[in-house]
Amino acid sequence: MRILEPTIENVTLAAEAIRSGDLVGMPTETVYGVAADATNRAAVLRTFEAKGRPADNPLIVHVAHLQQLDGLVMEFPDRAQRLAERFWPGPLTLILPKRTEVSDEVTGGLGTIAVRIPNHPVALRLIDFSGVPISAPSANLFMGLSPTRAEHVDPALGDRLAMVLDGGPCEIGLESTVVDLSGEQPRLLRPGGISRAEVEEVLGVSLGAPVQGERKSPGLYLRHYAPKSPVRIVDQLGSQEPGIAFESAGDHQIALSRSPREYGVSLYAALHRLDAEGYSEIVIEAPPRDAGWEAVWDRLRRVVG
Ligand code: TXA
Ligand code: MG
Repeated sequence: MRILEPTIENVTLAAEAIRSGDLVGMPTETVYGVAADATNRAAVLRTFEAKGRPADNPLIVHVAHLQQLDGLVMEFPDRAQRLAERFWPGPLTLILPKRTEVSDEVTGGLGTIAVRIPNHPVALRLIDFSGVPISAPSANLFMGLSPTRAEHVDPALGDRLAMVLDGGPCEIGLESTVVDLSGEQPRLLRPGGISRAEVEEVLGVSLGAPVQGERKSPGLYLRHYAPKSPVRIVDQLGSQEPGIAFESAGDHQIALSRSPREYGVSLYAALHRLDAEGYSEIVIEAPPRDAGWEAVWDRLRRVVG
């Protein structure tokens, strides 16, 4: 696996790789992604194959500016405009009706497409230099933990990439918030870096839940962001248990912040570290239940399965 500093020269090389249909490990503010030319069917198919991801689980397409969406979405309604103005570039993905030119491989055969402008200078430069919209699922094997640092990219996946651009540790650390704007009522499909309350404040309506039984977002895979060791959540971490706590962690323990944002930034990195130790079990002290912790709890549930 080739990890490169994101110099202008290396981003230029990465953009050439994208244009010739290869895959590149791309840093974003949320997690690292497997970048491919979203307009190149073969490259998109290679993405699914490299991750071992089922073909019906659609990808997010990343653009550098709003005009680039013209070739991707049928329309950009007023409520999308308002969310974009407030949160882009940033950790918010919008689901909108797709244009017919967008290939079924990208959208998993759905009539809608997921789009976002990421808030990371390396990602924006790579999209810019490539001159194409870039599809990028998280750079983990299917069902694995998302990487929040270049060195977290699993070599089994990394070896399929032309290179991984090292953009440093991700600033958000959890995947983007996914909001479906394709129907009458906006719905929250995945909580993430932008909170439900922040989205609702801009839209002036409350967000609906995903339609049950509909094939949407990762809600369907209960054990999704899974480390190799089994994970258990407890009210209080025992002093001998390897895991994640809030305060004065002992040996084999990692202490995370009481602020949900900072907790989210470090959660995957902590799990990657503990997982590398090969413990028979990882134990996590339960965070508070209030609304600010929605995205963290969503991931913890999927980690436990
Ligand atoms: O933060 C992120 O969003 C990262 C970085 C790399 O941008 N990407 C990411 O991609 O998390 P991925 O593929 O791991 O998750 C994409 C999510 C999946 O849950 C997928 O089901 C959902 O977005 N999605 C994509 N297209 C959709 C669509 N048309 N309708 C509903 N959900 C969609
Ligand atoms: Mg993922």
